[in-house]
Amino acid sequence: MELTITKKFSSTAERSPRVLEVAEAFGLGLAEKEFVIYDDLKLEIRQGDVVYVTGQSGSGKSIILREIEQEMVKHGAKVANIDMVPMESRALIDQVGTDMADAIRLLSLAGLNDAYLFIRKPEELSDGQKYRFRLAKLIESGSTVWVADEFTATLDRITAAVVAFNLQKIARKVGATVIVATTHMDLRESLQPSLYIEKYYRDRLHVERPVEQK
Ligand SMILES: Nc1ncnc2c1ncn2[C@@H]1O[C@H](COP(=O)(O)OP(=O)(O)O)[C@@H](O)[C@H]1O
Ligand SMILES: [Mg+2]
Repeated sequence: MELTITKKFSSTAERSPRVLEVAEAFGLGLAEKEFVIYDDLKLEIRQGDVVYVTGQSGSGKSIILREIEQEMVKHGAKVANIDMVPMESRALIDQVGTDMADAIRLLSLAGLNDAYLFIRKPEELSDGQKYRFRLAKLIESGSTVWVADEFTATLDRITAAVVAFNLQKIARKVGATVIVATTHMDLRESLQPSLYIEKYYRDRLHVERPVEQK
């Protein structure tokens, strides 16, 4: 899918007494200014791509994620946000699958292949295990594009690498497209992205299609 992304903000600060004082003290002009975050960026995202968006806080990661998401929905893709996957306070085995065998298949695919975990509730799982349960539900939902902002932000970096590794592995197995954004830059090895985007301030960025590994 070919996408073109343009995002600009024109920001006029509201002139409160304090705003005026700051402007005066730091020599800021308050005339209308245009902030360009993306300027006619052309992106090609293929089904099955693993897209890793990284870069500093405030550089425009969430914006590009939202833009891609909207464009894909417009093009008829079934997009699911990993953080929005609903979980109920019931045993995992009762929350996925059409029957017992299907439930075990889905949980195992997501890396939850331990009978002890089947009978636990989501709130009794570790963050990493919870993430895997979300993945089981995503696989079941049949969504073809999985999106996660602030990906692994709350996880310790070892769990983060495991979660990232599992995510790309499962996505590649079922042919889903994955798009994640995070300020953490340590996930290249575990995610093995097929499209890598590093965003800098203003409209600067680096886009790369790493050569196929393995
Ligand atoms: N409605 C808005 N008006 C002006 N600037 C905005 C608006 N929304 C976001 N921005 C700016 O766009 C930049 C990128 O935002 P965002 O994509 O959320 O960054 P991040 O990379 O941290 O996810 C930020 O510097 C933010 O201040
Ligand atoms: Mg963000």
